[in-house]
Amino acid sequence: MDAYLWPLTTVIDDSGRLMIGGCDVVKLAHRYGTPLYLFDEATIRNACRNWRTALAAHYQGETAVHYASKALLNMALARLIADEGLGLDVVSGGELYVALRAGFPPQRIHMHGNAKTRTELEQALAAGIGQIIVDNLDELELLANLTAHRSSLQAVALRVAPDIATDTHAHIQTGHATSKFGLPLDALDAAAERLRIAPGLRLVGLHAHLGSQLFDVNPYTAEIDVLLDSAMLLRERHGLMIQEINAGGGMGIPYTADQHPLDFHTCAARLGEALTDGCRRRGFPLLRLVIEPGRSIIARAGVALYTIVATKVLPHTRFLHIDGGMGDNIRPALYGARYTAVLAERANAPVEEIVEIAGRYCESGDMLIRAIPLPRARVGDVLAVPVAGAYTLSMASTYNLTPRPAVVMVNDRSARLVQRRETYEDMVARDGGAS
Ligand SMILES: Cc1ncc(COP(=O)(O)O)c(C=O)c1O
Repeated sequence: MDAYLWPLTTVIDDSGRLMIGGCDVVKLAHRYGTPLYLFDEATIRNACRNWRTALAAHYQGETAVHYASKALLNMALARLIADEGLGLDVVSGGELYVALRAGFPPQRIHMHGNAKTRTELEQALAAGIGQIIVDNLDELELLANLTAHRSSLQAVALRVAPDIATDTHAHIQTGHATSKFGLPLDALDAAAERLRIAPGLRLVGLHAHLGSQLFDVNPYTAEIDVLLDSAMLLRERHGLMIQEINAGGGMGIPYTADQHPLDFHTCAARLGEALTDGCRRRGFPLLRLVIEPGRSIIARAGVALYTIVATKVLPHTRFLHIDGGMGDNIRPALYGARYTAVLAERANAPVEEIVEIAGRYCESGDMLIRAIPLPRARVGDVLAVPVAGAYTLSMASTYNLTPRPAVVMVNDRSARLVQRRETYEDMVARDGGAS
């Protein structure tokens, strides 16, 4: 078992059983049912602290870490992130609603999105959130109008498309010039002109996000240069001075043993250097440095548990049919994401066969893991899939009208249910004919 793929508190006990947060994983699967998503509180807190301390250690100016809540959000997690002193990025009225319901301080919330609706912008303004990150000129126009007669100023940042290529799956690249996200660089003048006559808005920063699952730091330093050049343009042509550079998220996380983590210290150091040098060269004071990791905070903390419900034998392989799949984790079907797994009751037993882990949903593409070596698995065994915390539940669906899984947080030998399993009743609750 590759330790760096599992939550920090993971151990295999003397009888070969997987233990996380001091809890017996198989017992949790039996108590709460499967599929079950298990989160290790210590791993989440550790990741938050790592990013905060690394950034502060490597940059003399002010720093802030915002958790990108699209990776996963529920009320318990929002509270934990607030408690760790991070800010929160939301991309929808729904994420904002959950954050506010959990008591997340509005001033530490940033709102993203390439298609924010009027209602969502009004919701953000009413809540008094810290920053709205404007994605396009239409949004800027709408926001300028919505804030024209307000007594307080709304802080905004401009998201630009920096035209930087990254080595990641096309579905999760966002920094290229033809991306749907962000203002093209040549639209900055128009944005600055509009901001000049927007009495309710105060420009505080520039933002870019290159993509997700990035293991190379060089694109980030190139990005900082582009953002600082844009800041120069705003200062020199429009007299606008910003205070903040937001480099986005995307820091890569290993999912399988052939990948290795992007070292957060190296990443923070290179970002810090690039911003320090870049500010100095352009005659700027040290601007505030913000990053927005999502996956690198939550992915490793999460383990998905499934029960093997049936098998199918073919001449050269076996299918293990599990009780979850693309409904709770769309990533393999969506962009070929790869995972590993162990049998939770025999976590270090020797490999005996290569099998295919098939999801339960009615799509041939619903294959959770292809060609995985495992000990001989039996119906009823619990399969544990690590690095399952990010972009799984947050993208979950009720396809085939299958209820979404329960979520349990483990810490210090105790487990608490932070989100109950969806019920059939939940599924008809919205139907007009339900009563
Ligand atoms: C604007 C923005 N910030 C941050 C993130 C988080 O990226 P990751 O979870 O890969 O760190 C994303 C992900 O899509 C994003 O679009």
